[in-house]
Amino acid sequence: MIAYVNRIAEEPGISIGLGPGEFKLTVEQEKQFIADRAAEDNSLFLVAEAVGEIVGVLSLRSGLRRAMCHEAVLGITVKQEWRGRGVGDTLMTYAVDWARHSGVISRIELHVFTTNTTAIHLYQKHGFEIEGCRRKALFREGLYHDDYVMALLI
Ligand SMILES: CC(C)(COP(=O)(O)OP(=O)(O)OC[C@H]1O[C@@H](n2cnc3c(N)ncnc32)[C@H](O)[C@@H]1OP(=O)(O)O)[C@@H](O)C(=O)NCCC(=O)NCCS
Repeated sequence: MIAYVNRIAEEPGISIGLGPGEFKLTVEQEKQFIADRAAEDNSLFLVAEAVGEIVGVLSLRSGLRRAMCHEAVLGITVKQEWRGRGVGDTLMTYAVDWARHSGVISRIELHVFTTNTTAIHLYQKHGFEIEGCRRKALFREGLYHDDYVMALLI
């Protein structure tokens, strides 16, 4: 998992808010992170695997406070060589279905670069709507980027 995330973070031009060398979890910390998510009834951590390797990851992470425990924040990545082959769509289908049946989640929120048309298309396909634009929200590779706040209400 650590190698997977580091590789994604190092990818030139990728539209995520994590940069090269910024993922600093040790193996023990990563194990604990996964165990913590598994123990929470309002969080989900999905791994797509093919030919023995990790090819995609989706996380839904919710707050622990009562006022926010119905809201999950979604993050998704697919390994470069596996994009455009339905992995992201499969992960999204599973996650939205899981949330609908969780009995806890009534809102899924995500942030996406306004230029990331592939991801925006995928999210809209799964019912997410753009709620607003955060201008200059991210700074990556020498440029500021705007992002959209998108959400699905359940
Ligand atoms: C965004 C991402 C998760 C999508 O996953 P994926 O496995 O590539 O997507 P899928 O193959 O399941 O395709 C999903 C939809 O996007 C479309 N799509 C795929 N690649 C595309 C491309 N390059 N341009 C336009 N549309 C594209 C597919 O046609 C499909 O739509 P359809 O079902 O209407 O035909 C993946 O591309 C990725 O990890 N990108 C880099 C990291 C990233 O941007 N993460 C999101 C941060 S918010």
